[in-house]
Amino acid sequence: MGIQITPSILNADFAALGAEVARIPSADWIHVDVMDNHFVPNLTFGPTMVEALARSTDTPLDAHLMIADADRHAPTYVEAGCASVTFHVEAAAAPVRLAREIRAAGGRASMALKPATPVEPYEDMLGELDMLLLMTVEPGFGGQKFLDLVLPKIRRARALMDKHGVETWLQVDGGVSLETIERCAEAGADTFVAGSAVYSADDPDAMVNALRERAAA
Ligand code: DX5
Ligand code: ZN
Repeated sequence: MGIQITPSILNADFAALGAEVARIPSADWIHVDVMDNHFVPNLTFGPTMVEALARSTDTPLDAHLMIADADRHAPTYVEAGCASVTFHVEAAAAPVRLAREIRAAGGRASMALKPATPVEPYEDMLGELDMLLLMTVEPGFGGQKFLDLVLPKIRRARALMDKHGVETWLQVDGGVSLETIERCAEAGADTFVAGSAVYSADDPDAMVNALRERAAA
């Protein structure tokens, strides 16, 4: 699939989300961070807002659910128009069943791991996932510092994917910038979320392309 850049709208202007997404036509996906004030200490938006955003753009939506009781809510986001739905394994009672439900609803199924959650226990379910998200900050807020301590886990996840011959994409999210993206790519990530790096740039669309070039270097 190659390198994909997935800007997060968390640091965009929430009063003008349609226009904010239209500013970055080079994005491969738009990353929407759903937070519930339980799983993370921050609150964003829910399926109604996501559905309106999906209708406003042709760029596919990549929902990142930082919410409790993922088993109950994740399929709703496929119905809301998200082409990819990521749930946190720490918030899912039955991750295999949930991944299958997301796929059955027509979405790409993805599972996220917080920085301290190991990947090895999930080795045998990688084939159930279209994407694995390794958080490179503690989830909850944009603009945090990239955690280098996650790099060895990115390498181990890539090795497990190679070992099992799966097509699962490997996404990183948190503190990804021109400064840190090469390290992630070198470790084996192929899908990159960037929030503040894109929306604090003078030209957000040019930043999307600059990140893609840096990751491919
Ligand atoms: C953090 C979110 C990220 C966030 C990334 O909990 O999951 O998607 O928007 O923002 P930056 O790129 O600024 O770390
Ligand atoms: Zn995210």
